[in-house]
Amino acid sequence: MIPDDLIALLRAARHVVVFTGAGVSAESGVPTFRDALTGLWARFDAETLATPEAFAADPDLVWGWYEWRRARVLQARPNPAHFAIAALARHVPELTLITQNVDDLHERAGSLRPIHLHGGLEATRCFDCGQPAPRSSEVPNEPEGGRRLAPPQCAVCGGNIRPGVVWFGEPLPEAAWLVAVTATEACDVLFSIGTSSLVHPAAELPMHAARRGAAVIQVNPSATALDRVAHFNLVGLAGTVMPDLLAATWGRSDN
Ligand code: OAD
Repeated sequence: MIPDDLIALLRAARHVVVFTGAGVSAESGVPTFRDALTGLWARFDAETLATPEAFAADPDLVWGWYEWRRARVLQARPNPAHFAIAALARHVPELTLITQNVDDLHERAGSLRPIHLHGGLEATRCFDCGQPAPRSSEVPNEPEGGRRLAPPQCAVCGGNIRPGVVWFGEPLPEAAWLVAVTATEACDVLFSIGTSSLVHPAAELPMHAARRGAAVIQVNPSATALDRVAHFNLVGLAGTVMPDLLAATWGRSDN
């Protein structure tokens, strides 16, 4: 049930920020980070694989893990949450989409230029010299995961090619962070959808918006660190809640 004051708030919104995390892609079959990993990867913790130290120590293990994630993303399709977020942009005067996700499911659902705070799986570069490396068009065949895979070598220096994602301990891309902070300071409504609100500095954006007077709406089936800050807590799956919210606010026509 969508509260009437939330419907009124959305109809009057001028600039909406939508901030998303792994939960928004969960219903597309892309596992979240803090879910138990499936198959052979169950014995690894995502946070210990997603570091420069892990890649330096065992590049085949980390590259194999990211190729498995990439295979999952390539097989996945956007779900109703991605489509509802793309539709939301057509209902409000201004919308900025900020995602922590390294997949491209927002783009495939029709969202224009989402800000990728944690980079993207497809944007590979050399671990040693930083030279961008073209992505092989080969689709990894890794239904179960768990296979070590040697990364390709850099054409310039021979170093290992790494995924273009931000790892723990690395800074966020400066330009993306600046745009995200500026939008957060300008918005009157911020959605936080499918994120555990645990990973900083990204997790500070909803708190920052709330401090600046924006209304914060959280969509998540589980409790998070944002529960006490959010003005509206819509407890449920994003793929159900977001289409329902749009239908309640603007009718069912185009979402
Ligand atoms: P997490 O895996 O930490 O959290 C996923 C959140 O999604 C949890 O709060 C779940 O309750 C929620 N969730 C699960 N299914 C959902 C659904 N169908 N609808 C709505 N919510 C759902 O993922 P993030 O918060 O995105 O960083 O994690 C943030 C960052 O930590 C990631 O970008 C990644 C990770 O380690 C890097 O790779 C640098």
